[in-house]
Amino acid sequence: LFGRVISVGIGYLCGMFLSGFLYGKKENVDLRKVGSGNVGTTNTMRNLGVKAGILTLIGDVCKVFMAMVIVWLIFRNRYPDSVKVLELYAGVGCILGHDFPAYMKFKGGKGIACTGGLLIGFCPLAVPISLGIFILVVAITRYVSLGSILGVISLEIQIIVFGQMGLLSVPEQYLTEVYIVFGFVAGLAIILHHANIGRLLKGTENKFSFHSKKQE
Ligand code: G3P
Repeated sequence: LFGRVISVGIGYLCGMFLSGFLYGKKENVDLRKVGSGNVGTTNTMRNLGVKAGILTLIGDVCKVFMAMVIVWLIFRNRYPDSVKVLELYAGVGCILGHDFPAYMKFKGGKGIACTGGLLIGFCPLAVPISLGIFILVVAITRYVSLGSILGVISLEIQIIVFGQMGLLSVPEQYLTEVYIVFGFVAGLAIILHHANIGRLLKGTENKFSFHSKKQE
């Protein structure tokens, strides 16, 4: 338990680095007050342009790698069998820090880019299908939120399938825990999209466009 708590804590601290929000600050735009009010990649791109969106994406993906590497460095000798599970907890902590940053009254992003980072770090095998579904859904519907929701659902399914196939490089006794943790990650992402889901049902969800408000 000690390792898990410390890993989540390290992840949480890394996750609070909100690239989109900081980029907005630099440009004198409070992303919480424009567009969807989200501080993630989509709303940053929507309001500040493609470059800002890409930098936000890179920042939010890389902070997960950073948290995972720190945890690996700290625990690789102490818990060699379960260090990969601890890296997963670092990723989850990072998502929590991103979604609920203490210094922003716990109102942050929706954790999709971070979840992508976690997937790349923890199970790169699952990236092509989840990313493929995301890109396909966004290309067809232009709803990033729908792509995100279907992407995280596919992620949970793939983790279970790859786990059962023995492809996660996690000792068997931790597999159920890994499925539950990813279930939590996917469930949280879906819950945080509740406003998007409401708009999708009403047909009023924002459609993605490369022409951001800044460029118009
Ligand atoms: O990454 C979050 C995305 O799925 C939706 O973003 O700004 O449209 O709520 P947004």
